[in-house]
Amino acid sequence: MLRAGDHGENPVIEFEPVSGNNPALKRMLEAAGLPTDDLLDAGRAFFAATRGGVARGFGGFETAGTDVLLRSIVVDPHVRGQGVGHVITRGVLDQARAGGAARAFLLTTSAAPFFERIGFTVIDRAAAPDAILQTRQAASICPVSAILMMMDLAS
Ligand SMILES: CC(C)(COP(=O)(O)OP(=O)(O)OC[C@H]1O[C@@H](n2cnc3c(N)ncnc32)[C@H](O)[C@@H]1OP(=O)(O)O)[C@@H](O)C(=O)NCCC(=O)NCCS
Repeated sequence: MLRAGDHGENPVIEFEPVSGNNPALKRMLEAAGLPTDDLLDAGRAFFAATRGGVARGFGGFETAGTDVLLRSIVVDPHVRGQGVGHVITRGVLDQARAGGAARAFLLTTSAAPFFERIGFTVIDRAAAPDAILQTRQAASICPVSAILMMMDLAS
């Protein structure tokens, strides 16, 4: 379990796996307008960031060949801007790396600057592997206006 923060003004954030049918995961994604149709499909892994025993955010990835698609990165609107999103994203990337993934991709309509700060770069869809473009997120669930981003996990 990843632990971040301290016991003072910024209490410990714990990072742990959750099931795709976790009700709080679905609620938070729906509230943020992110896809929930395929949470129970095979090949996905989800994680929660909890503070004080309460889920403050979630994130996950799905495997596409030797790459992963980061997805469902969401933080409770009441605690945004406190570092929870960074903890979740780094935790999900660590999990994907530990699973042997070489590159991480993601789609976002509004959070590209946040992911750029973490190390992702914007890429053209034509440069993405077919296995990523064929995920339900890339092929149909996300709007065509979504920006595609990539990060090399070996670096
Ligand atoms: C994008 C999103 C996940 C970011 O979550 P967040 O918890 O607000 O993110 P963080 O607090 O880690 O980072 C936001 C900013 O707060 C700052 N920050 C404030 N306190 C911080 C702390 N203690 N530690 C680290 N960063 C801190 C960071 O510098 C960061 O600035 P940056 O974006 O310029 O790097 C969140 O806005 C969200 O849920 N959006 C809706 C869903 C979405 O669009 N998801 C992406 C597509 S899957």
